[in-house]
Amino acid sequence: MQDAKEEIKARLSVEEVVGQYIELKKAGRNYKGRSPWGVDKTPSFMVSPDKGIWHDFSANKGGDIFSFVMEVEGISFREALEKLANQAGVELAKYGGGDRKVARKKARAREALELATKYYQYCLSQNKQVMEYVFYRRNLNQKTVKEFRIGYGPSSGRALTNFLSKKGFSREEMADAGLLNQYGGDMFRGRMMVPFIDVSGVIGFTARVLDKSEPKYLNTPETLLFNKGRFIFGYAQAKEAIRKNGFVVIVEGNMDVISSHQAGVKEAVATSGTAMTEMHLKQLSRLTNDIRLAYDGDAAGVKATERAIKMAATLGIRLSVISDYQGAKDPDELIQKGAELWQKAVEEREPAVEWVLKKYRERVDMATAEGKQEYADLAVELIGCLPPVQQKHYRDKVALELEVAPEELKKAKNGIKKRLKPVKMVPKDENSEILGIEKELLAIKAGAGMEIDTASFSTEASPEELSMIFEVKYAKYSETELKSEVKLLLKRRKKSLVKGEIEKLSAELEKVEDDEEKTNAILNKIRSLQKTGE
Ligand code: UTP
Ligand code: MN
Repeated sequence: MQDAKEEIKARLSVEEVVGQYIELKKAGRNYKGRSPWGVDKTPSFMVSPDKGIWHDFSANKGGDIFSFVMEVEGISFREALEKLANQAGVELAKYGGGDRKVARKKARAREALELATKYYQYCLSQNKQVMEYVFYRRNLNQKTVKEFRIGYGPSSGRALTNFLSKKGFSREEMADAGLLNQYGGDMFRGRMMVPFIDVSGVIGFTARVLDKSEPKYLNTPETLLFNKGRFIFGYAQAKEAIRKNGFVVIVEGNMDVISSHQAGVKEAVATSGTAMTEMHLKQLSRLTNDIRLAYDGDAAGVKATERAIKMAATLGIRLSVISDYQGAKDPDELIQKGAELWQKAVEEREPAVEWVLKKYRERVDMATAEGKQEYADLAVELIGCLPPVQQKHYRDKVALELEVAPEELKKAKNGIKKRLKPVKMVPKDENSEILGIEKELLAIKAGAGMEIDTASFSTEASPEELSMIFEVKYAKYSETELKSEVKLLLKRRKKSLVKGEIEKLSAELEKVEDDEEKTNAILNKIRSLQKTGE
């Protein structure tokens, strides 16, 4: 389950999850909001995107996205896991079972897929009509077809499954590889086959019809090997060029990737049939921070770019947009007009934020007051996601366009309120006071390196949470101030502990009937506790 948890965490940001329940405002590198449980009016709820955690300073709670949803919905860990898995598009079923068994299944699936790829390649070489589609209609050359291992899935229905059966693969193994349809026959029929290749081999396919029928593309479903939120089409083939030339181009279609490579732009990749995730970006940003998007200029393209801008801001990525298609509908079409046109377009990119702002201006009527207001609102929202230096840069720029002072722009947002999910009121945990105090002490111990005896503490907290508590509350304290704070906290902790003990004993006392000896013993204990607590 640890894998599933990590997978979900990689796909959902903490501010995204918390933001569904609480209104969050950016505060430096963190976000601030009002505690969903507390009564205080000050923003005492902090979210750290860097650390992936939240902490509520008024209710003394904190943790990751799972603990947040547990608390806020009042549900169990398992329920929270299922809920977030659903949101993230992670299939929990895939993560169960023994690791050895899973590893074996994966290895067999890889073998089946490798054989299938070879089989499809052979089928292409035997079919003139399909070769014509691949080589003449799509204009791919031998080298490209070989490099991307393009093939053909015959239309007969069980061609591949029969072939794999003969080679000793069970139906279960074929199903694990994503090669069976719901009736147990070949998943891909009468389609041009393009393998999904990762660094260790084939993990699935995208398959295109040769005519105008629907669906145009059929993709391998999520399997043990293929995870569409993580897979980057063309990555294995593009990696070296990206590293060497220091940039990557993200296009929309898999065929755009293939055409681009053939046209000499070998830095092209695509997220296959899915929106870009933070995982995709993170993986690419390990190779380069110059990321160029070649998306459609339509509303969906703008949305995708907005999302990318938000994700890129925390990853230190320089995001730009390639938009000059000269009327072509996608890179592939532009390349058909001339490879050099695409090469030029890839050079002539513009910063993503500027491109999106331009799209906003096209969307509204900048000659009217409403249009200007709409533009200002959209711009402020977008700019708010950027790192501070860029925020200033773009705010000044937009302010200049609208002929207002930059400070005026900050107020422009006339608050279109997001609909928030309801928050369950969780009854106050009796231990929460002690837990909160212990966490603060642990935070000071970790953050300032002070000697505090915490051996008897019952609280556990992650280093991330502790460092967040320290940063927010104690970073500005002098050593003397810290020392007196520690003294105070230790005293409060002791008092709390004593109070808890007394409460426990009182409850015991109520249960004891007619046993004078026992009653006296408990009363004595309570009295001596009261003394130590003073
Ligand atoms: P496009 O329809 O823009 O792909 O879809 P394309 O590459 O230009 O297709 P061609 O040139 O007509 O062959 C972009 C991407 O969306 C996914 C695929 O990953 C495709 O590459 N898609 C599209 C599907 O998964 N299924 C579909 O039916 C269509
Ligand atoms: Mn196309």
